[in-house]
Amino acid sequence: MAKKIAILTGGGDCPGLNPAIRGVVLKAAKLGYECLGIQEGWKGMIQADARPLTPDGVREIVGEGGTILGTSRTNPFKKDGGPEKVLEAFKTLGLHALVAMGGEDTLGVAARLHKEHKVSVVGVPKTMDNDLGATDFTFGFDSAATLSMEAAERLVDTGRSHRRAMVLEVMGRHAGWVALYTAIGAGADYLCLPERPVDVKELCAKVKAAHDKKKVALVVASEAVEFAGDKKEERLDEFGHMLLKERGVGERLAKIIETQTRIETRHAVIGHMQRGGAPTLFDRILGTRVGVKAAELVHAGEFGKMAALKGTEVVGVGLEAATAKLKTVTPDWLRLSDDLL
Ligand code: F6P
Repeated sequence: MAKKIAILTGGGDCPGLNPAIRGVVLKAAKLGYECLGIQEGWKGMIQADARPLTPDGVREIVGEGGTILGTSRTNPFKKDGGPEKVLEAFKTLGLHALVAMGGEDTLGVAARLHKEHKVSVVGVPKTMDNDLGATDFTFGFDSAATLSMEAAERLVDTGRSHRRAMVLEVMGRHAGWVALYTAIGAGADYLCLPERPVDVKELCAKVKAAHDKKKVALVVASEAVEFAGDKKEERLDEFGHMLLKERGVGERLAKIIETQTRIETRHAVIGHMQRGGAPTLFDRILGTRVGVKAAELVHAGEFGKMAALKGTEVVGVGLEAATAKLKTVTPDWLRLSDDLL
């Protein structure tokens, strides 16, 4: 009987997950394995909830958004007997290995399960936030930032017609990569990132100067931007993250700009639209490559590893190293954006 590899997708979904699932299944079949799809991330693993994934079943999902497996933000380490239930599911489902696709949370769980419970797990990095260490890019990011760049350009069109300042709030949690790429790609006039507190005086001066010249100004802001003097009393999810959608960064910035510059200002929040839709070509290829690599890592018995993009190569790196530290926007990139914006 063929050995079984289970695949799960955890945390926020993003374009590229289906190509990655397809990559694992097609390569695993070539190597002589059968695949099972765990439903809704670690929640499904705790409940041993799985269905077969066949090469024919995944062949046509390369351009589909979302994840055919469903996802959740369940943390087994926050559930009574969670890790033990994962080990039990390994036995019930007769698994040889598990491929966990996720960001810092899902892969952080995978790293702990491997280290503390010797679980045969391999990681696949995904997140539109692009904030995972040990890989140059994560799939999902290119699709998300391409969409927000296009949205920003549309805001400029309407803003120019109405002689307004426009603020676009984008996702990206505590790393400003999505905002940074959106702002540079769309030629924004100001960029607000979680990596540095908003300088209201500078923001308003730049908006005013841009509006004076062009009759429109564009500000791109990351959802997790900090304002000096704010109290931290936000609600947290199972992984201890703030629920950022409740912060209203775009709206706040628009009010500040309008009050201080007297320029009529509107804001838009792109939010979860950035997580849906067909993956870009880049994300289809990257998803496919890391999926294929994950199947190869399983076959080589290299558990506790993650398939990572390093330069132009996809290689195996330690899951622990990959999840140890969040990859935030570096001083080099901040300097580059300061030179442009
Ligand atoms: O981590 C990806 C992400 O899209 C963040 O950018 C965002 O803050 C968060 O997920 C939103 O999560 P949810 O889908 O739980 O609202």
